[in-house]
Amino acid sequence: MKRMLTAPEHGGRLRAAAEQWGIPLAEWLDLSTGINPHGWPVPVIPEEVWRRLPEPDDGLEGLLRHWLGATASAACIPVAGSQAAIMGLPRLRPPCRVGVPSPGYQEHGHCWAAAGHRVTGITGDHTGSGDESWLDDLDVLVWVNPNNPTGDTIEPERLLSWHHRLQRRGGWLIVDEAFMDATPAFSIGEASGRPGLVVMRSLGKFFGLAGVRAGAVAGDPDIVDRLGAVMGPWSVSGPARFVMSRVLADQQWQAATTERLHSDSQRLAEMLVRQGLGDSTGTALFRYVRHSRAVDIASEFASRGILVRVFDQPAALRLGLPGSESDWARLDQAMSLSDLY
Ligand SMILES: Cc1ncc(COP(=O)(O)O)c(C=O)c1O
Repeated sequence: MKRMLTAPEHGGRLRAAAEQWGIPLAEWLDLSTGINPHGWPVPVIPEEVWRRLPEPDDGLEGLLRHWLGATASAACIPVAGSQAAIMGLPRLRPPCRVGVPSPGYQEHGHCWAAAGHRVTGITGDHTGSGDESWLDDLDVLVWVNPNNPTGDTIEPERLLSWHHRLQRRGGWLIVDEAFMDATPAFSIGEASGRPGLVVMRSLGKFFGLAGVRAGAVAGDPDIVDRLGAVMGPWSVSGPARFVMSRVLADQQWQAATTERLHSDSQRLAEMLVRQGLGDSTGTALFRYVRHSRAVDIASEFASRGILVRVFDQPAALRLGLPGSESDWARLDQAMSLSDLY
């Protein structure tokens, strides 16, 4: 794969869409991200949280360990969004061979390539064959589980066998679990104390708190402690630590949200079938549909003020979940007006 030094594109760029399509910002239905539209209700943040420097012994680490299932042998640190870890990890190894899922979340390949590593896209041809010798051509494998945008999920046992194969040569497995919260049985957080294994989570998706820039990393202390040193002190703000502590302690909200997201994702999958877009894959937070006319369909939606993510290679759309009933009705209506599918 060629070095990916052009910054990857992302969903959520509503202002650019508003300008491009001449539709006022407030009139858009933004389905271009996989962010929960019913995010955790953030309480008022106490005055002193804004005023004081964040303190590492504020009790957050225990909550993070519980969230990731990290055992005592793992190191566990908060980060300013998993993006901060995605950018920091490539600095911890001399140039080496790195595999990233393709299609997949592009920041991984971009950041490893920008740090001078040789990046290879790992496709369904690799993972679909019984032969896993492709792992022997890598020093680091970054996997996104469930994957974004496809939603493909790899069983923990299989990931751990990949890890074993890499680690016996001093290799690393890094698992990005940004979309894992609604399916915790697939997390490999409990194994994160093993040498050469790193797991990361985000507060942005399931919790709907992308703006706060918060996440966590658990894993081999030799890697995670060095990552923490690269980040430096106070890299996660006091308000972000406060919000993270409260939301991670709110088990009741998390249980209700898991149920709601699964049911809404199913509802969206059924709508896509009913409206003729066909079968989709995905997660509890988004649906992914392959379609040869994906670009045209996305443009048609945009002309009606609905923003979705479009991908090429393969041509596909990714739709996040509508929030209100009127948003659901609006999407249903827009889909029914198209003659592209
Ligand atoms: C798979 C995946 N990982 C990580 C991130 C980064 O999320 P954040 O930095 O908000 O934690 C994203 C954002 O879209 C993502 O899709």
